[in-house]
Amino acid sequence: MPSHHATGTKPPPEAFDLSGEFRKYIGKRVSYATHGIHKYPAKFIPQIPRYCLEAYSEVGNDVLDPFMGSGTTLLESYISGRNSYGIDIHPLARLIAKVKTTPLDPEVLSSLGDRLLEDIREDDEDRTEWIPEIPNREHWFRPNVLTELARIKKNVWAMRKGNYQDFFRICFSSIIRRVSNSDNDSLIPEVTSFQRKLDEQGKTSYDALARFENTVKNKLLDAADLWHLSEEVKKKFRDPPEVKIIGRDARDIDLDDGTIDLAVTSPPYASAVHYVSVHKLEMFWLDMITETAKLDGRVVGTARAYLPQYQSWEPRTRIGGLKDVLAQLRAKDKKSAFVVNKYFDEMRKNLCETNRVLKRNGRYCIVVGENTFRKVRIPTYEIIASIAQLAGFELERTFVFDVINRHLDIPRWNDSRIEKDHILVLKKKRDTVCDSL
Ligand SMILES: C[S@@+](CC[C@H](N)C(=O)[O-])C[C@H]1O[C@@H](n2cnc3c(N)ncnc32)[C@H](O)[C@@H]1O
Repeated sequence: MPSHHATGTKPPPEAFDLSGEFRKYIGKRVSYATHGIHKYPAKFIPQIPRYCLEAYSEVGNDVLDPFMGSGTTLLESYISGRNSYGIDIHPLARLIAKVKTTPLDPEVLSSLGDRLLEDIREDDEDRTEWIPEIPNREHWFRPNVLTELARIKKNVWAMRKGNYQDFFRICFSSIIRRVSNSDNDSLIPEVTSFQRKLDEQGKTSYDALARFENTVKNKLLDAADLWHLSEEVKKKFRDPPEVKIIGRDARDIDLDDGTIDLAVTSPPYASAVHYVSVHKLEMFWLDMITETAKLDGRVVGTARAYLPQYQSWEPRTRIGGLKDVLAQLRAKDKKSAFVVNKYFDEMRKNLCETNRVLKRNGRYCIVVGENTFRKVRIPTYEIIASIAQLAGFELERTFVFDVINRHLDIPRWNDSRIEKDHILVLKKKRDTVCDSL
């Protein structure tokens, strides 16, 4: 482990262990209301942002999650009476976060659902023009599944645009992976021999219409939970909290200087979760992408890099811990070192931007652990803590807790692993001046 002397930072205050605090929530209590409205990789359990919200903000404060993913922080902010702002590069994440945090009248939703399901059942026209272009489409979907999905899509898309339709778009998205040929347990879609074996044993169902009906019924219950919660929120807080999804890029935040009380996030890791690939089938069906490369290139932590970018690049940084990591990776191959350096430089941009929008003494709680890449251990939390100090923060304290596997998906391919988690509590001490790593 690199010494703090070597990283040029002061030693962090002793870490406080929250494992017991979070372990008791494993199970149902992490997916109440709409927290489980759609799958999303590397979600954190709601109790984590909730802990930060209660410790470092007050009712009526403004909270930001610049890598909001499926919107866990936003929903917890809403429930606890804070206004929240969310940002994510991933279009499906933005839709999930929106539906997760928008209370909908259960009666209206239920009657719209009944009508929609009836329309789908009675629709006997050829809807093949609704099937999107997907690379290797026939590899991913059986012909009858394509036809059924097209029929569902046509009828969902025929609804009036807005919050209610978005709820049904999420229901539609939720069944895509289940009726595809991909192994449901793989993080990234893949057709496995295990899945084929299940098919042969008749243990899989490709009935998209039945699955959609079931999904709508189940998600109506989640939506009703959120509605009831929102009634309580309205009673409890004089000014109902607002939730706003304000943008796409955590490196360029559309908020004024010094306006945010608290930021809470779990950022991506260098080359760990391939956020675009994980949900590419859903995004093709939702007309959110027509190819994956462009979006993938904009994700912080992307493993995508081209020879002209790193050919004449050489590692150079002031951060001791990063220097060690880059040297070890450079000895293996230049591209890996470049990719990891790029990740930390992008995190630097986010730290500078978040510093800018925070009020003085406002906190930025970052939930982050360590990972390995190409068999090199990357103490991501330590390096981020060092960069944060360049960006005008002081590391006020650190919490640690055991990674709860079931809820924080651990990528196991590409020899990247995430093992332990930390909550870095960064306090804005001065305006940001950092210009490079
Ligand atoms: C660990 S996930 C966040 C999960 C979230 N805490 C939750 O509970 O759902 C990290 C997120 O960062 C997003 N991301 C990656 N690059 C980004 C960028 N440049 N700007 C904003 N978000 C980005 C990814 O799309 C992903 O949703």
